Amino acid sequence: MNTRTIKDLTPAEVRGKRALVRVDFNVPLDEAGGVADDTRVRAAVPTIQALIKGGARVVLCSHLGRPKGKPDPKYTLAPVAPVLAKLLGAAVTFVPHVVGAEAEAATRALKDGEVCLLENTRFEAGEEKNDAALAKSFAALGDFYVNDAFGAAHRAHASTEGVTKHLRPAVAGLLMQKELDYLGGALDKPKRPFIAILGGSKISGKIDVIEALLPKVDGILIGGAMACTFYKAQGFETGKSLVEPDRVEMAADLIERAAFRLTLPHDAVVAPAIAEGNKAHAVKRDEIPTDEAMLDIGPESAASYARAIASAKTIIWNGPMGVFETKPFDAGTLAVAKAMAEATGKGATTIIGGGDSAAAVEEAGLASKMSHVSTGGGASLEFLEGKVLPGVAALDTR
Ligand code: 3PG
Repeated sequence: MNTRTIKDLTPAEVRGKRALVRVDFNVPLDEAGGVADDTRVRAAVPTIQALIKGGARVVLCSHLGRPKGKPDPKYTLAPVAPVLAKLLGAAVTFVPHVVGAEAEAATRALKDGEVCLLENTRFEAGEEKNDAALAKSFAALGDFYVNDAFGAAHRAHASTEGVTKHLRPAVAGLLMQKELDYLGGALDKPKRPFIAILGGSKISGKIDVIEALLPKVDGILIGGAMACTFYKAQGFETGKSLVEPDRVEMAADLIERAAFRLTLPHDAVVAPAIAEGNKAHAVKRDEIPTDEAMLDIGPESAASYARAIASAKTIIWNGPMGVFETKPFDAGTLAVAKAMAEATGKGATTIIGGGDSAAAVEEAGLASKMSHVSTGGGASLEFLEGKVLPGVAALDTR
């Protein structure tokens, strides 16, 4: 990775300096407004600890949810401060301002090694517009800038991109580095065989990833309802399954160009509706009944995908194999998760590309058995598509 990181800074660039650190604390909240899943907070801890150790004054900023450019108490970052404090074993001052005189005063009141967390960056209308004046106001809150928010790196916002025009050094944090090393390493120098497993409901969301990965991988295994758009292209009955009619031609073209490198599930678990799991049954892919929908890959496919995973050395997975939130349609997703966990144990590099697959692996208790679980959903997808992430491109290079 050519991006400068906090490890490339000299002690003098860190000690006594205010580090403005963009993190991705866009965490799910529970009904009482507490943090329902602290994965993203935990993921930022190594960078914060390294900065504390280096004697920096740590100023954290993040977005949370989509509050539409104005303060909304539903999306305050306040509940995250105590969660982070517990993980760090140190005090974290919550500052109820995003930018401005009070925010700046709070950053100037910090002593070496102290940490504060600012209010939601999206409470400012200029954040998502990458407004130059707001970017300048962010820059006033630090003496150098660290971007550790991989999950938001695909957004060219004032706190992820604009701010770097006014504040240097601008370097990557340790989480950002880890994400880029794993995802970039898999794409540039994969141990082979290298396979990708792509699922989810819509082919339209994955088409760019399929196109970008096809020349690099030894095989792509398809799951999720998007398999049905491919089935349609092959002339199979798809019943009540989710199909994107305007993508059928594209799917046919992909099947032809990919030849043996694209594998579709041989069988499917179908039911009249998601709520009718008791009526679920497996059928061959060309036997989907007209009044039922594919809601998971079938057991034969799950077993053959598990075999493919077992014989691969690098595996990237993005998107569930079925409606994994609802039993029994979680079986295919679980089979892939288990096979990947076993492959890790045998020395393969296993990467979960964030979003739903990360949630599924977490729920199955297998997250720690993967080489890397990305904290970015949209960001990891765009990275795999080969797109430049603005939040990364804006940082210093070595
Ligand atoms: C995410 O959860 O994927 C990131 O935090 C980005 O959030 P956004 O899609 O609201 O920009």
